[in-house]
Amino acid sequence: MSQHRIKDLHFRFEPFGSRAYRALQYSVLTAGLVAMAAITVPGIRAEPRAWLIIGLWCCLGFFTFELAVRLWSRSDPKKRGLNYLFSAAGAIDAIAVLPIPIALLFGVPTEIAWLLASLWLLKFTALVPGLSLLWRVISLESRALASVLVIFLIVLLLAAVALHVFEGVEQPEQFGSLPLSLWWAVTTLTTTGYGDAVPETFLGRVIAGIVMICGLGVFGLWTGILATGFSAEHRRRDFIRTWDLVTRVPFFRKLDPPAIIEITRMLRRLDLAERTVVVRRGRPGDCMYFIASGEVEVKLEPRPIRLGPGSFFGEMALLERGPRIATVVTTLPSTLLILDVSDFHAFTALHPDLAQVVEAEAARRASAIKSETSVRP
Ligand code: CMP
Repeated sequence: MSQHRIKDLHFRFEPFGSRAYRALQYSVLTAGLVAMAAITVPGIRAEPRAWLIIGLWCCLGFFTFELAVRLWSRSDPKKRGLNYLFSAAGAIDAIAVLPIPIALLFGVPTEIAWLLASLWLLKFTALVPGLSLLWRVISLESRALASVLVIFLIVLLLAAVALHVFEGVEQPEQFGSLPLSLWWAVTTLTTTGYGDAVPETFLGRVIAGIVMICGLGVFGLWTGILATGFSAEHRRRDFIRTWDLVTRVPFFRKLDPPAIIEITRMLRRLDLAERTVVVRRGRPGDCMYFIASGEVEVKLEPRPIRLGPGSFFGEMALLERGPRIATVVTTLPSTLLILDVSDFHAFTALHPDLAQVVEAEAARRASAIKSETSVRP
């Protein structure tokens, strides 16, 4: 196939990321998994079973076709063909497709071979955005998580040894060997507690109590580390997104990098649909807004005024410490950056030149309103 045709294929089949295609993938996966589960049901009749297996072959055909297209349609020659199989996505695509026919060729019973269809789920790990966030948090917090894991293993082993010593003679079937005691320690430390092995001696019970409390502590620590990691990662991502928006507002261009970091921390992002009321005339003002994208309309009489990306509004109520002078409504889907009143005063105190810009604009707007109202009959 010529280079030109390959590029063609790339354009035709790489809407793999489109919503419709994703919906198709999810439908094929769901149908495949349901069929896989259904053929394991004992007593299913031959005819529906045959249809289910045909359905499974169709799903496998779909994923094989997808793999084939991806193998040959990559625009980058370094990622095409067998090279694709050595990438993470390529390996997952191959793992989803190859094991089933191989198992069937080696004579594995049909129900068992088709259980490998559960590997199709791996293809969807890349589509779940939360998973990449989870991986990032786990890798960032790996040291803290590993130290809790070490504590977990120490408590596990010590508890198993202690129970083997104290209970081994009394209950050889449950605690007669270290592996048996380890089973008890795992179910107790993870607070699962099947109750199949219960210490009977006084010391055994004391140790069991300590292990249960340690189990709660260890899982509390893990949860705490992951929760803090998630919130730190969210803050980092928010910061980067807000930073990107701040650089689009000319008002902040004069600021040096430390001041940009400072204002980025102060600003909050607000995404609004069109025709949303942002501020209402007469209401007290507790923040001002910078337009990162979109457009708003200031409902002034007799002529409303439109403000576009880079402009700001809502400053007059903050400077006058009074009510909003006009209602402001979005005319397009807009992204605004909000600066709260306390941050506004702190920031303008540190950057008097910017304070002057805001004050001059507020004065100009106030006089424009005055002249408009004085001209009106
Ligand atoms: P505030 O009074 O807090 O809320 C309404 C906002 O509309 C006001 O602050 C100004 O930011 C903005 N505004 C008022 N008059 C004008 C004008 N003439 N041109 C542009 N914006 C205005």
